[in-house]
Amino acid sequence: MLNDKKILLGVTGGIAAYKAVDLASKLTSAGAIVKTILTKNACEIISPLTFKSITHQKVITKMFDVEADIEHISLADWADLIVIAPATANIIGKTASGIADDLLSTTIMATTAKVFFVPAMNIHMYENPIVQDNINKLSELGYLFMEPEHGKLACGYEGKGRFPKTPEIISYIDTYLNYSRDLIEKKILITAGASREKLDPMRFLTNFSSGKMGLALAKAAHIRGAKVKLIHAAMQDDIPEYLDSEEAISAQEMYDSVHKIKDEYNCVIMSAAVADYTFKDYSQQKLKKQDDLSFSMVRTKDILKSLGQTKKSNQYLVGFAAESENIIENAKSKFFKKNLDMIIANNLQVAGKKFSEITIITKNSQSKISGSKFDLAHNILDNIFK
Ligand SMILES: Cc1cc2nc3c(=O)[nH]c(=O)nc-3n(C[C@H](O)[C@H](O)[C@H](O)COP(=O)(O)O)c2cc1C
Repeated sequence: MLNDKKILLGVTGGIAAYKAVDLASKLTSAGAIVKTILTKNACEIISPLTFKSITHQKVITKMFDVEADIEHISLADWADLIVIAPATANIIGKTASGIADDLLSTTIMATTAKVFFVPAMNIHMYENPIVQDNINKLSELGYLFMEPEHGKLACGYEGKGRFPKTPEIISYIDTYLNYSRDLIEKKILITAGASREKLDPMRFLTNFSSGKMGLALAKAAHIRGAKVKLIHAAMQDDIPEYLDSEEAISAQEMYDSVHKIKDEYNCVIMSAAVADYTFKDYSQQKLKKQDDLSFSMVRTKDILKSLGQTKKSNQYLVGFAAESENIIENAKSKFFKKNLDMIIANNLQVAGKKFSEITIITKNSQSKISGSKFDLAHNILDNIFK
């Protein structure tokens, strides 16, 4: 939901400034209007012209320009969200101290819009207690932050300090533009992905679930401030570093992992596609080719049912029903059989596409919605925690 949103991108003098070009480009392609301020030091690393060519919007580098408006006020008022990416230790420190000595820092002081910092720097700079104190102080004041990633840093060090990947930054921007950090007190356990039941060391039984819906739910809830645990089977997409995740590939592993910690959570969302059957016997050696082959299969433990049977009175339990026919009827029957608080009926005929259609069913309501998986995830969370 970035269409027509007014984003002021502040680029500071970190080596990752060149990566802000990709961010500006993807935001623009998603329909946002992106104006850019580059600090004097950012201009040493990347040309303002690059941003101008990509965004087709104003790119400003100077505060005192006789031809320009009073930009620090007009841009501060114009923006729906100010995104500082990359954010140097310097701009974080200046903001924490109320310093307004160039166009970007002055605009930050002058705005009433939300300001979102994406720090990127050398690991020792990032871990410096002064920088950490500044981040904590600003967070308490309502400024928004995203943690940098671990990895090889431009300075040659290995550690936390890398500029996050563009799609992850965009998930944060999308959430901060449209939602608040309203889930801070909530603890949510989410499962996702396609389980795998092993037949031999090479082969397994699985399903077509991509894990994208569960991942979108985990990201959306995390960015809105919830304490999220993601227990996942096989996933099509990478899991971002900022999520607390654990792998549980088979139905039995997922049953064990979920049951071990479920009581710590206010809400459990079971979006993983877990096998109903597993092989009766596992072969330690790879099975040889034969003309005819048949297997015995046995039922796996029903995780959702067991959660419904053991849930605490203050725990909200959400299941998914992926159906190819009689979608609503089948989902409603599952809702009652498994003692759920909400079920998301998912039409398999349109599943797997970028945009999905789901029906959210509770005891007294039923609403059909469509959109990107990320939009749907936010909508599901709104319905759970309204
Ligand atoms: C090549 C180069 C790369 C730099 N990379 C970073 C960086 O990644 N993060 C950071 O906080 N500072 C970095 N600095 C230091 C900043 O440029 C410096 O603190 C500057 O004062 C920041 O100014 P600004 O915040 O107004 O853009 C780098 C400096 C140089 C010369």
